[in-house]
Amino acid sequence: MSVVGVLVSGNGSNLQSLLDASRDGRLGAPVGFVLSNKPGVLALERARRAGVPSEVLSHREFPSREAFDARVVERLRAHGVDTVVLAGFLRVVTGVLLDAFPQRVVNIHPSLLPAFPGLDAQAQALVHGVKVTGCTVHLVDPGLDSGPILAQRAVAVLPDDTVETLRDRILAEEHKILPEMVAALVGGRVRLDGRRVTVLPVPPGQ
Ligand code: GAR
Repeated sequence: MSVVGVLVSGNGSNLQSLLDASRDGRLGAPVGFVLSNKPGVLALERARRAGVPSEVLSHREFPSREAFDARVVERLRAHGVDTVVLAGFLRVVTGVLLDAFPQRVVNIHPSLLPAFPGLDAQAQALVHGVKVTGCTVHLVDPGLDSGPILAQRAVAVLPDDTVETLRDRILAEEHKILPEMVAALVGGRVRLDGRRVTVLPVPPGQ
């Protein structure tokens, strides 16, 4: 059976959606390990409450991104992880992590990619003046938020939206599509044809 590892940097509401889905049998796999690159974040408390082992690994203690990722891979493997979710993990990952888990690293991003990659996607959307934004779950490749797209949900931008109100409405959609797509990946229901991804439906009776 697959074991999901979750990399976090902050609040961990997406981690919570995965923990809840795992508890309710919707994920099809346990969340076996949580790693944060920042100490003292709420995500670590969420892991503790769910009884999932967690660790803090500060990227500042490593001479390069690759050296940091090599240790991350070592810790993930030590917990039997085969599927990695970047859930608000605010670090660019390198080939060291991607080569260790080919096509098994997933990211959630708060925009309709390829619009507004990188940091502060909600603020980017407001500054640009788009009327619709949303969230994207994608496989991670070496680029910035550029890998094959598994799922997207649109969210309307309202005239009086602030970064906070928009962020919260996008997060509500993130919490739905992230567990669904992780379940598809661990359930072997993801087909890749170049950049195009087909997510097969759950077989009847499951
Ligand atoms: C989420 O909105 C996630 O999409 C975003 O950080 C937030 C983390 O929230 N990720 C990125 O912006 C990555 N570029 P959470 O810690 O409550 O899950």
